Amino acid sequence: MAEFLIDAQGLVERWTIDGEARRNALSKAMVAELAHHVARVSGRERSVRAVVLTGAGTKAFCAGADLKERASMSEGEVKIFLDSLRATFRAIEQSDCVFIAFVNGVAFGGGTELALSCDLRVIDEAAEMGLTEVRLGIIPGGGGTQRLPRLIGKGAAKDLILTGRRVAAEEALSLGLVNRVGDLEDAMHLAKMIVENAPIAVGLAKHAIDDGAHLDLDSALALEQRYYQKTLGTEDRLEGLKAFAEKRQPVFKGS
Ligand code: COA
Repeated sequence: MAEFLIDAQGLVERWTIDGEARRNALSKAMVAELAHHVARVSGRERSVRAVVLTGAGTKAFCAGADLKERASMSEGEVKIFLDSLRATFRAIEQSDCVFIAFVNGVAFGGGTELALSCDLRVIDEAAEMGLTEVRLGIIPGGGGTQRLPRLIGKGAAKDLILTGRRVAAEEALSLGLVNRVGDLEDAMHLAKMIVENAPIAVGLAKHAIDDGAHLDLDSALALEQRYYQKTLGTEDRLEGLKAFAEKRQPVFKGS
């Protein structure tokens, strides 16, 4: 059974987690299918340049790990599941494609971790997020203890993770946990603005920010220089200059 509904709109795809009855909780099958789609849009054929990821229905973006499936898993199976979850979230970050989470309803545990692995987050005004794992006797296992402090700082991350509390949209915005409070249209609009830009440049800019964030400044600036260098030989750079001179919109080909 397909776990995601895929809706292609030009260079943007909308992926909807199709598990409304269990609040889009992440099962083994769902993570495997997510990994497949991430690999598909990250391959050499770059016909998809941005993905808006959301959940079916209005109640949940993703209620985290599928706790019913988890209850029947051995410790070894849980470890294998978490390895695949971590690898899939990492593949989202390492992709040249830009991922935008539209948090349309609650996002708890792995649901918030999935949103954290995306490049940008838009949250519905009625939605809530939280890394609630300590309430279940575990800790975030899909990168939450590492990605959250990198995004919002150690103090705020400890406030959320150690209490396991849920934050509403406005607090998520004020903490920097999300980029915008808005609706699906806002998330799609962001995606469409991004795919109008030169795709090689967008991918390199994403990786420059991610890869440089935890280097010392000199190393980070050297990394930026290396990534900048990669844009110099592209046809898109020349097209950008030509379009500017001709006072028209550039037509980027991703080469
Ligand atoms: N795994 C598996 N099933 C889940 C689930 C999860 N993480 N979260 C919700 N469901 C299921 C419920 O068991 C219920 O199934 P049922 O109809 O067979 O009883 C169904 O989804 C609807 O859940 P319900 O609680 O009735 O819906 P709600 O809209 O009132 O509340 C949540 C939704 C997400 C707030 C609530 O279900 C919840 O807190 N879930 C646990 C979230 C969590 O702790 N995640 C962290 C995991 S590390």
